[in-house]
Amino acid sequence: MNIDLPLTLLGGLSPATFMKRHWQKKPLVIRQAIPGFSAPLERAELFDLAAQDDVQSRLVMQTPEAATEPWRLRQGPFARKALPALKKPGWTLLVQSVDLYDARVRALRDQFRFVPDARLDDVMVSYASDGGGVGPHFDSYDVFLLQAHGQRRWRIGRQKNLDLQPGMPLKILAQFEPEQEFVLDAGDMLYLPPRYAHDGVALGECMTYSIGFRAPGAGELAQEVLQRLAEQACDEVGEALYRDPGQTAQAHAARIPTDLAQFARDAIDKALRDPLAIERALGEYLTEPKAQVWFEGAQTDFDTGQGVQLDRRSTMLYDDAHVFINGESFLAAGRDASLMRLLADGQALTAAQVGQLSESAKGLIAQWVDAGWITAN
Ligand code: SIN
Ligand code: CO
Repeated sequence: MNIDLPLTLLGGLSPATFMKRHWQKKPLVIRQAIPGFSAPLERAELFDLAAQDDVQSRLVMQTPEAATEPWRLRQGPFARKALPALKKPGWTLLVQSVDLYDARVRALRDQFRFVPDARLDDVMVSYASDGGGVGPHFDSYDVFLLQAHGQRRWRIGRQKNLDLQPGMPLKILAQFEPEQEFVLDAGDMLYLPPRYAHDGVALGECMTYSIGFRAPGAGELAQEVLQRLAEQACDEVGEALYRDPGQTAQAHAARIPTDLAQFARDAIDKALRDPLAIERALGEYLTEPKAQVWFEGAQTDFDTGQGVQLDRRSTMLYDDAHVFINGESFLAAGRDASLMRLLADGQALTAAQVGQLSESAKGLIAQWVDAGWITAN
């Protein structure tokens, strides 16, 4: 992607300027970010997805008349007849990770690849009946809210007080202080940085697509990386046993010998001595498929005269030394690394490009086709 080219999607800003001025900093309203946009997924198709066991969905119902229980939340799956009537106002169906299930929604998500893939999370699609919304709240992550069908009125505010109403089944701000208000039509889009207060209310039936990001926590990354390092520790460190021929007689038997603590410290240093260990574990974690993703093996054998395409459920990333795909890491250098990076960035390789891979890299491609991670064409 040319990051210096102005994009209609970003209201005429280039990705470079958008990232500098707005990303993680301030909101942006973009009128007709996608001119003439019509929702790729029909309402009925969204309801069908919400009925599937492996699709994560939620139903939010507003009952403002019931002072004791103004919001109700239910987790899917939802059979069509379990959803409220379309005429009933004030409800919202939220369906997560629609980009995994629908190629058109995945193509939409790909328009946002000026942000690193490692930061992109999913596209959530919401359907709301008249007056529906999820209440005034804040999200912890950046989000592009693309109006896909009908109209939604957004009110947003920079407030510092992010206290939540106690006892609610969903996050509702205790005190919402909106500063700006916009009505978005189909094709309009609102970018919000993390922790920006917002409330979107459907004006008539509407659908909104949230292109959402993820920002791993420091604790989460430390845990995930260390867990992977721990799994490889025995291979790295070996089976050596602690030896203490110099141990002196102890008057205080319960005290841990300092040599034993040093032995443990040395073992950990050895486990970490591979300078690429952290990068490898990080890439494996970041490409781990989501819980609901599974792959069916290929129907046909791969023939090296074919081009390949990354399956939309696959995650492929790389760093200076590795390529990562679906939780696995491979060292790559030279021409193989360049071609594998092309596959990760461009999501496809032509037959001619596949032909330039080394025999071992072709072997990997064949295995990935076999696993259903990429498809041959
Ligand atoms: C919605 O689509 O109804 C909610 C999106 C959001 O506020 O984050
Ligand atoms: Co939100």
